[in-house]
Amino acid sequence: MRKPIIAGNWKMNNTASEGAELVKALKPLVKEAKCEVVVCVPAIDIPAVKKAIHGSKIRLGAQNVHFAEKGAYTGEISANMLKEYGVQYVIIGHSERRAYFGETDETVNKRTLAALAAGLTPIVCIGESLEEREGGLTEKVLDNQIALDFQGIEDFSKIVIAYEPIWAIGTGRTATDEQANETIGYIRKRMKKVYAGKNVGKMRIQYGGSMNAKNCKGLMAQPEIDGGLIGGASLKPADFAAIVNFDK
Ligand code: PGA
Repeated sequence: MRKPIIAGNWKMNNTASEGAELVKALKPLVKEAKCEVVVCVPAIDIPAVKKAIHGSKIRLGAQNVHFAEKGAYTGEISANMLKEYGVQYVIIGHSERRAYFGETDETVNKRTLAALAAGLTPIVCIGESLEEREGGLTEKVLDNQIALDFQGIEDFSKIVIAYEPIWAIGTGRTATDEQANETIGYIRKRMKKVYAGKNVGKMRIQYGGSMNAKNCKGLMAQPEIDGGLIGGASLKPADFAAIVNFDK
């Protein structure tokens, strides 16, 4: 059985003190959570949020990591820097990074390998655009990301994939339960073929894109969906808690 994982992606929201307040409100609401609960916060919020989650089930995640161990990479943060602060997860290759910051399949792959080498759990985002879905290219796009983003990984039980159809992110337009289930099922099947013998069966695949307190139950009831990567709804403690407690 794969343990469900619900992760919040705060994106560029919440100062350190706002983040600490949010987590303080969230803590009692997710006390009984049976899934893994993660908040992926802006790097500068990490120390404050680390302190604020103390004594709870909430785990700490970052939103990006550089692939080099150290060196002349102005503005970047290494896996070891995150690790030393108690960060356990890191989002890699979010579509916003791919669209606005020149992230490529190659850099996604390098960052993923660096995160794994440092003992972090990468949450690697893949997914198609609206144009690609409407053009019948979804599987082709995913095949390409699958081939390039995960090269050199030996144990897929140590990574999480977030399937995020770009057209569903921040738009309020969620994939239907069946669409999300079918596409995630396709990803799993394809990865089992491409990365045979590398523990793909134990890898968790989340759905992401306008998941909220209302639609989470239907999505999480689907057999292929192992969790959610939550943007907007992770900024409101009650909404995020409702998703974490999808099984109540
Ligand atoms: P959203 O964002 O839930 O606001 O659509 C999801 C994401 O970008 O990870």
